[in-house]
Amino acid sequence: MASLHSRRRRRRRDDYHYQQMHPSDWQIFRVYLILVSTSLIGCYGLISYVASTHRYNEARLRELANINATDIEYITEPQLVLRNNCLAELCPSGKDVSWHLVIFVKSSATHSLHREIIRRTWARWGFVDGGHFSTLFVIGGNEDPYASEILKEEKRRYTDILHYDGPDDYKNIAFKTLIGMRWAVENLPRNYYYASADDDFLVNIAKMQETIDSYRDFMVKNGTNIFPIICMFDGRDKAKPFRDKISKWYISMEEYRWPEYPKFCMGGMYVTSLAMVRDLWEISQLHRPMRVDDVWITGILRKKLGVPADFVTLLSDPVAHHYLGFKVKADLTSQGTMMQDEWTKLLALAENKTVCTC
Ligand SMILES: *[C@@H]1O[C@H](CO)[C@@H](O)[C@H](O)[C@H]1NC(C)=O
Ligand SMILES: *[C@@H]1O[C@H](CO)[C@@H](O)[C@H](O)[C@H]1NC(C)=O
Ligand SMILES: *[C@@H]1O[C@H](CO)[C@@H](O)[C@H](O)[C@H]1NC(C)=O
Repeated sequence: MASLHSRRRRRRRDDYHYQQMHPSDWQIFRVYLILVSTSLIGCYGLISYVASTHRYNEARLRELANINATDIEYITEPQLVLRNNCLAELCPSGKDVSWHLVIFVKSSATHSLHREIIRRTWARWGFVDGGHFSTLFVIGGNEDPYASEILKEEKRRYTDILHYDGPDDYKNIAFKTLIGMRWAVENLPRNYYYASADDDFLVNIAKMQETIDSYRDFMVKNGTNIFPIICMFDGRDKAKPFRDKISKWYISMEEYRWPEYPKFCMGGMYVTSLAMVRDLWEISQLHRPMRVDDVWITGILRKKLGVPADFVTLLSDPVAHHYLGFKVKADLTSQGTMMQDEWTKLLALAENKTVCTC
């Protein structure tokens, strides 16, 4: 009886504490909560990923070893991008669009929280000072029943997923990029811009819009009609391939025998024109994909196309951050404010811009 009483009292005191929490503490707590759940889901994802790679049956895997991105079937296509309904119905300033960009985010079925963070932050910005932005997620086949249920609901609710019937593991990441490129070539108007990104990026959309505008101006002044490949995160020139077999980025001599890679955009975060994507997609069909898809596409294939390294552009200040990178370096408390601080900064940068969120 006494213990029941004290338990009740304790609960009441907790309720009181709960109400007294300062609002900003609350926000920090919420971000913290999101990060903790992201890590939990991440662990879950890792376990189910390991399990699912075993579950993807052997025959299917052998079949997929000879995959050709041309033959893959789409399970679901991103109606959000096809219909453009955000711009047409919800954004009156959409009349003044001077260019369109579609951002292809490589994700995987178990990463629903990553996608949720993106949808609630930068992917909401559909229009910024004349630039029209759409974001979609590219996800491969998956046999995890729990993740499949969530994915089904996400597709219904947001219609922003390009889901294809093919391998979804890291080894085949280049393949995921290729499927996105193929879909872009098949479905988007020729004058669109294309961007590729990972699902743990925090993107400064306002700066991305300014960057694209300044390159459009440069092209007019320079009298060139080749829009470059702009690295939005980072890039490397003369990087050496990893020859250590246990590295995540290990490349055998058979796959690539030269001592250095051509200049490329790191992490696969870049913006370019759909014309460039069309050429890259076509030439990709003549070569075997490499696991390091950023090197392969923006370095090796770009060079094979005859596009000089000058057309791979590095920015002095990146437009995107890897938020999972911070997680390793920072303790939990600063992590909690890091996301919030970054996002507040990004919002402030757009204070004088015409922004339309969808
Ligand atoms: C165009 O840009 C390239 C690369 O920056 C430069 O080398 C070239 O001189 C420029 N041409 C003109 C006409 O401005
Ligand atoms: C994939 O298939 C297409 C059409 O069937 C063919 O043109 C292309 O060369 C193939 N690509 C590869 C890498 O085998
Ligand atoms: C927005 O405009 C105000 C007034 O001109 C200026 O003080 C401020 O720095 C501008 N903000 C940004 C992010 O450019």
